[in-house]
Amino acid sequence: MRKKIVAGNWKMNKNLQEGIALAQELNEVLTADKPNCGVVICTPFIHLAKVAELVDHSIINVGAENCADKEKGAYTGEVSAEMVKSTGCEYVILGHSERREYYHETPEILKAKVDLALANGLKILFCIGESLEQREANEQEAVCKAELEGSVFHLSAEQFANIVIAYEPIWAIGTGKTATADQAEEIHAYIRKCVADKYGAQVAEDTTILYGGSCKASNAPELFAKPDIDGGLIGGASLKAADFKGIIDAFK
Ligand code: PGA
Repeated sequence: MRKKIVAGNWKMNKNLQEGIALAQELNEVLTADKPNCGVVICTPFIHLAKVAELVDHSIINVGAENCADKEKGAYTGEVSAEMVKSTGCEYVILGHSERREYYHETPEILKAKVDLALANGLKILFCIGESLEQREANEQEAVCKAELEGSVFHLSAEQFANIVIAYEPIWAIGTGKTATADQAEEIHAYIRKCVADKYGAQVAEDTTILYGGSCKASNAPELFAKPDIDGGLIGGASLKAADFKGIIDAFK
């Protein structure tokens, strides 16, 4: 059975002390009341080593929000996949719409990042999703398919087992405007079909597909009850332990 996951994406929030405090609190509440799903917290680079050291990895996995598209060397300010892995974390988010839009990450750049992350033993939370304009033009399926084809469908089935897909409609991110559970299920089923067409039914069945975009404790149960929605990638509501725990508890 494929893995259910609730992953937090802190984005550019929390200084080091605040981030450590949040990770500690989360570790305590989830140790006391064990989750029924995989839990991942993705933090800014500077938090990774400390957070990876303090959490119980049998309960909480840790991830970065990005990594470089180059292996090593003279790339001032960049952080390589190898460096990310050396902190003790397990995951990296790639393809987030904010990276695509604000930092001009193209499918080719993302493909290079995907290859380096996998070569260094990281699992990938790979984000796809359409803009409001594309949704209004009914292009969501074409957009999602192209984003998969552009950066992850070159992988072997064995490599693809390390990919978690996160469907995040851009119009729902940080806007308070969630896709309805039916809207999300429709595109999740389509994404799973794309994976089946490429890798076969068994791989598609085993692929975890998360929903992201204004997911919170109040709408998580309805979203996660859908057959093709295997959990969530959570931004705003991952910044307080109680809010994040409320979403994790949707699997109880
Ligand atoms: P949000 O962000 O939950 O704040 O909408 C989700 C994301 O961007 O991963």
